[in-house]
Formats: sequence, structure tokens, C-alpha cells
Amino acid sequence: MEITREKALSDLSEYVDSDSLMKHSLAVEASMMKMAEVFNEDENLWGCCGLLHDIDFQKYPDRHGEVGYNILTDKGYDIEFCKAIKSHCDLTNVNRITNMSKSLYAVDQLSSFIVACALVRPEKFVGITSKSVKKKLKDKAFARAVDRDELQKAADELSIDITILIDYLIDGLIKREKYLNDLGLSLL
Ligand SMILES: [Fe+2]
Repeated sequence: MEITREKALSDLSEYVDSDSLMKHSLAVEASMMKMAEVFNEDENLWGCCGLLHDIDFQKYPDRHGEVGYNILTDKGYDIEFCKAIKSHCDLTNVNRITNMSKSLYAVDQLSSFIVACALVRPEKFVGITSKSVKKKLKDKAFARAVDRDELQKAADELSIDITILIDYLIDGLIKREKYLNDLGLSLL
């Protein structure tokens, strides 16, 4: 089955109508497209992986990962693609072997953290740097739900220095924000 963004978005809309989860999905899509560029992989495929990674989270939060895997395999998505999505939930105990799965794990929370940083800046994404994001990482009161150790662990698994990873994601998110703004949408 050919995985198109149109299909991924339509499948996602069947299960997600929360504005915040949709924005998170778009941010992870943007980040995965950037990581595909970094690894010289298929930006469309990786973007769809990001877009669909939390397809089950709104309706089945207690079985997140397992249900998403079943939904996506039933819909005919490629097994490796579905496994990458399943593996981003630690509870499923699926090893992250591919760069796609390691990237998804690494960008999931980090992209949300960068979006949270942009939201509190008057200029939003304009002028945001890895230095300012790292300053916020040290501020434990900011976005306290984000586990800093987990972010570091995920970057280590991917073998990319966290500062470089933040720079990649800032670039990917800003590019995507411009594209979304032209469509009357936003990551923020
Ligand atoms: Fe997520």
C-alpha cells in the first residue's frame, strides 16, 4: 500500500479530534520529515510515521502503542512502519532498531518541548536557538511533565548530540510552520 499524507491525515482524523493532540502530531510529523532529510530517507514516509504515531492516544490512552499498532496494521500500513510506531511507547517493550524508530522516540517529546519554548516567546519561533531551548531544559519548573533524562536517553539511543538534535528540530519545525501558516494552520 502506498502511504500518502492524505491517507495518513484521513486515518488520523478518524481517531483524533483534539486540537492539542493534532498539533502535537503535526509537530512530530515536521520533526520526522527533518530526521528523514538528515538520514537521507523518505520524507513523506517518515512524516506520516510522525503524523500517525499517537493515533490511539485520545481514545485508548491505557493501551497506547498496542492499539495503534493494531489500527495501523489493519489499515494495511507496512509492518516496519507500524513497529516503529509501537516502539515509541516504552510499555510495549518493542526494541528500537531502525533509525525511523529511534528518531520517532527522540523527537516525540523534544519537539513538544521546543513548541512549548516557542509559545512563551513574544517572537514565537523567530530567533529561537538550541541555546535558549537548553536553558529551558535546565529550568525544572518549565514544562515539568517532560522528563529531561528521557530526552537525553532518546538522543543517546539515536547517537546524536542533543544540541545538534535540537538544532535539527528547530529547523524542521520552522520550515513546517511556514508551510502550515500558508494553509491557515499553525503548530502553536
Ligand atoms: Fe507523541
